[in-house]
Amino acid sequence: MPHDTRFRYEALAELIAALVRDGTLAPGARAPSLRDVARQQRTSLTTALQAYRLLEDRGILQARPQSGFYIAQASALPAPAPTRPRPQPTEVALSGLMLAMLEHASNPRYVPLGCAIPSPALLDSGKLDRMLARAARLKGAAHNTYSPPRGEAALRVEIARRALRWGQALAPDDIVITCGATEALALALSAVTQPGDTVAVESPTYFGALQVLRALRLKALELPTDAHSGIAPAALDAALRAQPIAACVLASCFNNPLGCTMPESNKRAVLALLAQHRVPLIEDDVYGDIHFGAERPRPFSALDDDGQTIYCGSFSKTLAPGYRIGWVASRRHLPRLLEAKFAATLAAPVLPQLALAEFLASGGYDHHLRRLRRLFADTLRRMAEGVAEAFPAGTRISQPAGGFVLWLELPKAVDTRVLFAQALEEGICFAPGVVFSAAGKYTHCLRLSGGHGWDARLQQGLRRLGALAGAYAASRRTAQ
Ligand SMILES: Cc1ncc(COP(=O)(O)O)c(C=O)c1O
Repeated sequence: MPHDTRFRYEALAELIAALVRDGTLAPGARAPSLRDVARQQRTSLTTALQAYRLLEDRGILQARPQSGFYIAQASALPAPAPTRPRPQPTEVALSGLMLAMLEHASNPRYVPLGCAIPSPALLDSGKLDRMLARAARLKGAAHNTYSPPRGEAALRVEIARRALRWGQALAPDDIVITCGATEALALALSAVTQPGDTVAVESPTYFGALQVLRALRLKALELPTDAHSGIAPAALDAALRAQPIAACVLASCFNNPLGCTMPESNKRAVLALLAQHRVPLIEDDVYGDIHFGAERPRPFSALDDDGQTIYCGSFSKTLAPGYRIGWVASRRHLPRLLEAKFAATLAAPVLPQLALAEFLASGGYDHHLRRLRRLFADTLRRMAEGVAEAFPAGTRISQPAGGFVLWLELPKAVDTRVLFAQALEEGICFAPGVVFSAAGKYTHCLRLSGGHGWDARLQQGLRRLGALAGAYAASRRTAQ
């Protein structure tokens, strides 16, 4: 029998997840008390609590204040099936659909289910803008210069301080401030790859990362991905044995668009495999702060003793997409990252960095994040209910435990590229599935963004989109 490499709490969490799956623990019911679980399983209260926190992160349990843990209400629709992309590297095509979607991102004419951008109304923009104005007023002329190549020290110190909370020991000097996570990904990839190389990615994956691969003339190898647990170490192992892979790009948690998060034991197994094959990992953690469970899932770099991980983050999903500030961090690859930064954009703009540094230092960020997490969790729950009511039979939906996007798998007959054009005609924007694959897969899937929060307009847009999808599916059935 293979040796079980899981931690005790992970094995315990799996045991409880199995009881939920087979119906022994019913949705909505109170979960067994931590004390009972610890006694029955002959383990400590701390291990039982760790197991419950993990189940909370995976959306299987819900913690209710002063009341304990409950089995989460099951979604009315099943989760998307695990994906099975082609096992060959693919050149990434330029997607006209993606450009069309971005074009409509800030057009108020459309119901905003398309781009994964938080609504400005939900962000603490007023406070941030005041800090920017203050920095400009007090020392504007002195700041009208280039930042140091790594970026402003005050911001790097704040980023490093926050990272310590989830076990990531980042030194401020190992951080390079970038123009959003997009530039962070581009710098990381150009630091460790050459044109023509192959990069392993989740499938589906964020279309912006695919476009960075395209710009750097890299090929994408899409890996099979599970809607809950992300890529399986065994699939990565097979891919690493089958061909040379120059780097691997993975979400730290709540992948865009599937919403999956790899369990920590799988993250460790992936790190061990990559270390064995000497392949650097680039992790994208833009959604990490939007966790619905009590604790932020730990990124790969917090588990990586070998220093092979390059970490990419940004403030775009929680605070300031318009400020375009992100960061990339790695001690081992720092010289190459700095070279790449210099060649790409020389330095990041000074005033937005100073405003963000002051915002973080002033202590309001955690309060803001708590509000945002509640709001997005509630929005996604209502959207999932709306989808269950309005979309055609056979629709499947993701159940992310963080972030603010949902992935829908529609009946195979529905081509979401056609649905996209129909929806735009009716003033509704969404992201067609095909943009999330280098190989043009997922033509029957789509992604919905809840970044604008729940309101009557979103509700109506969702209903109308469901009706359009239903009519499309019915017309295809009649045609066959
Ligand atoms: C997974 C992921 N990474 C990176 C980005 C880009 O982030 P930024 O706006 O900071 O460049 C996005 C934006 O949608 C994203 O979803």
